[in-house]
Amino acid sequence: MLGCVVHKLEAVDSTQAALARLAREGAPEGTVVTAGHQTGGRGSRGRHWWDAPGESLLLSVLLRPAIPTAHAPQLSLVAGLAVTDSLAALNVRGRIRWPNDVLVGGRKICGVLPEAVSRGDGRVEHVILGIGVNVNQTEFPQHLRDHAISLRLATGAAHDPERLLGRLLDALDGRYEAWRVGGFAALRDAWRLGSCTIGEPVRTADGRDGVAVDVAEDGALLVRTRDGGLRRVVSRAGIGARGLEAEGDRDAARH
Ligand code: BTN
Repeated sequence: MLGCVVHKLEAVDSTQAALARLAREGAPEGTVVTAGHQTGGRGSRGRHWWDAPGESLLLSVLLRPAIPTAHAPQLSLVAGLAVTDSLAALNVRGRIRWPNDVLVGGRKICGVLPEAVSRGDGRVEHVILGIGVNVNQTEFPQHLRDHAISLRLATGAAHDPERLLGRLLDALDGRYEAWRVGGFAALRDAWRLGSCTIGEPVRTADGRDGVAVDVAEDGALLVRTRDGGLRRVVSRAGIGARGLEAEGDRDAARH
């Protein structure tokens, strides 16, 4: 049950780091850390995740699935779907940009960061799933202004991050259970419906231009490149200190 234990912090370096400490002490699956503000919020690819104190939903969820480490990035897709579920309950249409963004009106409202620790035999010790949602910001720093949106800007009304947390954990609980039983294949149709990536031009990390034509049963993005080839693009989860690199790691970037 996700959210069985919730640690609510006013401010922290990163909820990812705080939950990693609890995970090492043996915290159970479903443990959640939230914060009103992060001084060192982590984004994907080593970027900083900006927040304005009290205006975001910032959470990390501890998962202990019995899976190969290479499957951990699928949890990003699972979380993206759960975020769109929780937005839909507020009549907001979020679209998932593979692998880990949720957009509203073409602007980013949420980012997801899965960080996996491998046992060393290629299987997962745990995954810390970080989710940041812009909730009540009315403005953003210059570098984000053209790309970011908050729930408040999208709806014209303020929202309670606590209520959103409840909705999101409920949605994540349901999607995570479906994924545990049936793998990403069980969520694939719903994910396709909620995604804005299929049909869009993308560039693979090795610089090939193409069009995203589908998502595979394991969550890889299928890209038809200009030379006519079909390439599988696999997203990458951060792998912890005891970890191994997931094989075939490659991300696609949006044009
Ligand atoms: C991205 O770059 O899109 C991923 C952003 C993930 C941000 C969230 S906020 C809660 C959790 N704690 C962090 O330090 N990062 C994640």
